[in-house]
Amino acid sequence: MASSPAAQHPKTADPDHDVLALLRERWSPRAFADRRVEPAKIRRMLEAARWTMSSYNEQPWRYVVASRHDDPEAHEQLLACLIDGNQAWAQEAPVLMMSFYKKTFSENDRPNRCAPHDVGAASAALTFQATAMDLYVHQMAGIRKDVARETYDVPDDFEPMAGLAVGELGDPEMLSDDKRTAEQAPRSRQSLDEFVFGDDWQAPSSLVVEESSS
Ligand SMILES: Cc1cc2nc3c(=O)[nH]c(=O)nc-3n(C[C@H](O)[C@H](O)[C@H](O)COP(=O)(O)O)c2cc1C
Repeated sequence: MASSPAAQHPKTADPDHDVLALLRERWSPRAFADRRVEPAKIRRMLEAARWTMSSYNEQPWRYVVASRHDDPEAHEQLLACLIDGNQAWAQEAPVLMMSFYKKTFSENDRPNRCAPHDVGAASAALTFQATAMDLYVHQMAGIRKDVARETYDVPDDFEPMAGLAVGELGDPEMLSDDKRTAEQAPRSRQSLDEFVFGDDWQAPSSLVVEESSS
């Protein structure tokens, strides 16, 4: 938050337009401190996911969660569902999660096109709740879906989506050289006029082009 040490962190966003402190201060670290995340905080993160909007209020998200300080075996099991490159650093994260989504609407078994979108939104809410508690979340597409399916006996109608590493910020020195460099590199983003269009795909919306002072 604005008063927290995170506000001065080099990874803090430098937005072109004013946004919430939570949005400026969130980023995806790979170095996590070896400190327990209290279960009450884990519940608050998942509660934030719970109250996310979703298509037809289907709430297609599901999560598995494991805390290394509370249940090292469960943490190990979830770690094994990540690809090696992610395991290398995520093993230090005190909490691991994996998100899943239900592929069909419960009401009528029809495909839910927005389910991946909605689990992403839920994980975003979870992430910003974490930021508000000085915790960080690093999401991972690099998962072993087959391992996750088998490990957790995931029903056919559910799809593994992403891994999430959660904890307090750690010391970048614990990382491999390339990961340490990334951990300290400035964050970059497209500008609004690169991804917000008006009349057609070629032209940025006039709403996002700065008016010249005349
Ligand atoms: C859905 C998703 C999947 C991601 N997959 C990985 C991953 O497998 N491994 C990894 O190190 N980072 C992964 N990331 C982190 C992104 O690289 C990171 O969010 C992006 O570079 C922007 O950096 P920032 O989150 O610090 O702003 C993923 C992020 C998201 C949202």
